[in-house]
Amino acid sequence: MSQHPSDAPSVASRGVLTTANGNPVDNNQTSMTAGSLGPVVLQDFHLIDKLAHFDRERIPERVVHAKGAGAHGYFEVTKDISHLTCAKFLSKVGKRTPVFTRFSTVGGELGSADTARDPRGFSVKFYTEEGNWDMVGNNTPVFFIRDPIKFPDFIHTQKRHPQTHLPDATMMWDFWSLVPESLHQVTILMSDRGIPDGFRHMHGYSSHTLKLVQADGSFHYVKWHFRTEQGVKNIMPDEAARLAGVDPNYATRDLFSAIERGEHPAWRVYVQVFTQEEALKYRFNPFDVTKVVSQKDFPLHEVGRMVLNRNPENYFAEVEQSAFCPSHMVPGIAPSPDRMLQGRLFSYADTHRHRLGANYHQIPINRPIHGVNNHQRDGAMAINGNGGSTPNYEPNSYGGPAQNNLAAQTYASNFAVQGEVARHTYELTDDDFVQVAALYNLFNNEQKHRLATTIASTLSQTPVFIQKRQLGHFYRADKDYGRRVEAALKAAGSKI
Ligand code: HEM
Repeated sequence: MSQHPSDAPSVASRGVLTTANGNPVDNNQTSMTAGSLGPVVLQDFHLIDKLAHFDRERIPERVVHAKGAGAHGYFEVTKDISHLTCAKFLSKVGKRTPVFTRFSTVGGELGSADTARDPRGFSVKFYTEEGNWDMVGNNTPVFFIRDPIKFPDFIHTQKRHPQTHLPDATMMWDFWSLVPESLHQVTILMSDRGIPDGFRHMHGYSSHTLKLVQADGSFHYVKWHFRTEQGVKNIMPDEAARLAGVDPNYATRDLFSAIERGEHPAWRVYVQVFTQEEALKYRFNPFDVTKVVSQKDFPLHEVGRMVLNRNPENYFAEVEQSAFCPSHMVPGIAPSPDRMLQGRLFSYADTHRHRLGANYHQIPINRPIHGVNNHQRDGAMAINGNGGSTPNYEPNSYGGPAQNNLAAQTYASNFAVQGEVARHTYELTDDDFVQVAALYNLFNNEQKHRLATTIASTLSQTPVFIQKRQLGHFYRADKDYGRRVEAALKAAGSKI
């Protein structure tokens, strides 16, 4: 760890301290005052600049996924999928692409405990020769909602109550009970899978369906799976609560120390692949992110391996300033019509402009390896030369970058749509409970018991009408699920 050398270098070898404009600093311990008992003077530029910069050290934290840790590594192609995509970084076995990965919890603030019961973010930035591809997924294959218009409301229920400023079980269960499409993800969250043991022992999923596109524009739908080679491990609630007290940075520490020890965590990367025709006739809507696409129907195909082998040198520069965005794609990878994904295509770059500024792409951790060549100019913190004297418009007669018509098909992977522009609702049907029941019945007796108890521990704190409404959803999924939660609620003192 370079920041904690065991032998401190001599003062002479450290170089001279300077102000922000490069002037040597003669004294970094004493402010300039008018006489030894007099006030501090405004002409002490070093003091004023030091305080002013400090005053601005915090940038807005991410509105979600604020607490996280990251590491560098590489992705290597292990199986040929060049028949599915023209993405150059996937073009041949053995090809390596540098990556930066960030893992996170979702609801808590920057200082919150790593062992919260919460999904975990799983973001990977692939620095390919055709620009960056950001795979911004979670450790769960599904999500709570399936329309982006619900996201801000959902997240408000996971944050603090507007009056008490406390996490609030009523807000959470009120929303979930009114939006029962959430039950699949809620069941995962409340089960033994709800608190991963650090970031190394969990899988990652694109969750959404994406497309792999060939050079002629033809495409297949895919879901990405990153399967941990460390094995899946989860933490039981009592241990999670203990760790939240004694080591709230448990997962951050675990990732950093493992990499420092030379234990480089790795994930095998797979895709599930299906055609447009198969998508249209599948028994579930494969663009509904509250459901999985069964691996029995569409098995995993290995693509590669991701290894994390280098810690960041500087947390703020690399982890805090990293900006992942589902719309950062490369030719050969394209979005599906999943409407949640479509909402995310807008939201991330928008929040980056707010959190990091309009030139967030220029921050080294976000910069594509071959740079950027376009006519965007100016804005706060334009630090890449701003295009110099080259034309800032196009078409022009004086040079500079121009479009390459080749990629038109593969960027958009054109496909026909028809129908009315309207708010087409995803009606709730019995189908929405089938996968919940299937998941529930994978659990053994003890796991079912713990699931019901965990649910009851917070649901029992809510008004009885919310408990009843939510209980109806558990019963609709599986009678035994409903009965167990009802019993656990009563045991927790509920008057249901
Ligand atoms: C972070 C919006 C759904 C995974 C974020 C951020 C926003 C956001 C604004 C903060 C980004 C930043 O400040 O850098 C949304 C919206 C969603 C949605 C509007 C639904 C419409 C999802 C889903 C997943 C997901 C379904 C997973 C499949 C993540 C991850 C991060 C994140 C992993 C952290 C990225 C990082 O490590 O910097 N989301 N999100 N989000 N979101 Fe979402």
